[in-house]
Amino acid sequence: MINRRQFLQISGAGAAGLLTGGMTSLLGAREAKAAGEGGSGFTPDLDIALKATAGEIPILPGDLTGVWRFQGRLLKGDRASLVTLERSYLGPIIRARSGQKVRIRFTNEVADKTIVHWHGLHVPADMDGHPRLVIPRGETYVYEFEVRNRAGTYWYHPHPHGLTGPQVYGGLAGLFLVSDDEEEAAGLPTGEYDIPLVLQDRAFDRRNQLVYLAGNHMEQMNGFLGDWILVNGQPDFSLPVATRAYRLRLLNGSNSRIYRLAWKDGSPLTVIGTDGGLLEKPVQRRYVMLGPGERLELWADFSRYAVGSETELVSLPFEGGMLGGGMMGGGTVLPNGAKFPVFKVKVNRREKATSTLPQRLSAIKRYDPADAVNRDDPKRFHLVMRHMAWTINGRTFRMEQVAPEERVAMNTLEVWEFINEGSGMGMMGAMNMPHPIHLHGMQFQVLQRQGVLHAGYVDDGWKDTVLLMPGERVRVLVQFGDYPGLYLYHCHNLEHEDMGMMRNFLVENTTSAA
Ligand code: C2O
Ligand code: CU
Ligand code: CU
Repeated sequence: MINRRQFLQISGAGAAGLLTGGMTSLLGAREAKAAGEGGSGFTPDLDIALKATAGEIPILPGDLTGVWRFQGRLLKGDRASLVTLERSYLGPIIRARSGQKVRIRFTNEVADKTIVHWHGLHVPADMDGHPRLVIPRGETYVYEFEVRNRAGTYWYHPHPHGLTGPQVYGGLAGLFLVSDDEEEAAGLPTGEYDIPLVLQDRAFDRRNQLVYLAGNHMEQMNGFLGDWILVNGQPDFSLPVATRAYRLRLLNGSNSRIYRLAWKDGSPLTVIGTDGGLLEKPVQRRYVMLGPGERLELWADFSRYAVGSETELVSLPFEGGMLGGGMMGGGTVLPNGAKFPVFKVKVNRREKATSTLPQRLSAIKRYDPADAVNRDDPKRFHLVMRHMAWTINGRTFRMEQVAPEERVAMNTLEVWEFINEGSGMGMMGAMNMPHPIHLHGMQFQVLQRQGVLHAGYVDDGWKDTVLLMPGERVRVLVQFGDYPGLYLYHCHNLEHEDMGMMRNFLVENTTSAA
């Protein structure tokens, strides 16, 4: 019997990386399944059966809404490792500790082909949910990986090429929360005071059914925008709180919508974490821009509120959210950049337990740009429109294609620069919009951001998705890890991704190429 790990080590070398990808997909589920039956020596701490399935749930008053959703069953592990959200299409929250071994047996019970991606996690290439690994209805893909990430708010969602937008929209998404000793030592609120909040927008027809894009190209160029803001799958969401401090974990799980988050009363947001976990120390912002795929962790202290009072998290208006300044959007009810409430907070009980905001949250070792193999020559990725399609350096996604600048060596640090051309004057300037750029498999650090017209970014911590408003360019430092193979980078505006604003990068094992 083939041991997949060994198989990867043997064939994952150098130029064989691509081949590994192909062969792994052929072996795919069958081999992994066999491994799960005792061949691989992989003994999971956590073993979960996860399926994507169709169902109906109440969202708005009246008719049930047809959705697609993940449902999980815990086969092995602590009961707290799998938390089902009541009355929500969102998948179960998977909770793991750093260092744990996780097996997830994913079964596709929906009509499309699909595959699951673990957004933000550093996993082997064949565990990452690349679209070449899709499985048809009725089949199972077995994931086995060790959680190598630090504590943080990660998530999972489908990744079939061209269908990620509609599948996530239909309800396929869930949180993957990682904990570790460092996080525990920080002394943040836990349990019922640690609250995940998934922000998404949806549109419904008169029979309460989800409406996706009507199919016109301009809508797809902008990305889907719904007029209902759902939090954890609920409309008109309201969070009951006590007079004490909370940890709020926000995920922008929307297809295209960007949130410019702020407290309604103007008090600053206290940010404690981003995509890849806790910051070194808290930072304050009047507002924070949160692009699709990004996470934001807040410290929210309601101790100075009176019982019975309310506050609100809102999204403030901003410019540049729509193609052509929205002039060509054509009838979007709630454009990107509109002002709207996100959720209410209702202070409903007194509690004396006051906790103080820790001034030290975690240790982050900064990369040194001098260590980058291309320190004087950053790789440049232009986010541009070509022939009425969004591209990266003029290219769109091809299943196994890798351009020269998309090849990187294992365990090396590189500088990558993403460039979203200015929204200057004239027609060309107006032909631009925001792009949240995401890299699979690696958490990176933001080295520099240029062209910024506002103060709504938190670039201090670990990131896997970085928002570029029109006119902005961002340099990041990425350490390509110790897993060889094919990974993706793409715009996390899911309609842009589906139209091909996505490319592969290949992590090559150059040392053992002989
Ligand atoms: Cu969250 Cu490739 O995606
Ligand atoms: Cu990802
Ligand atoms: Cu985009």
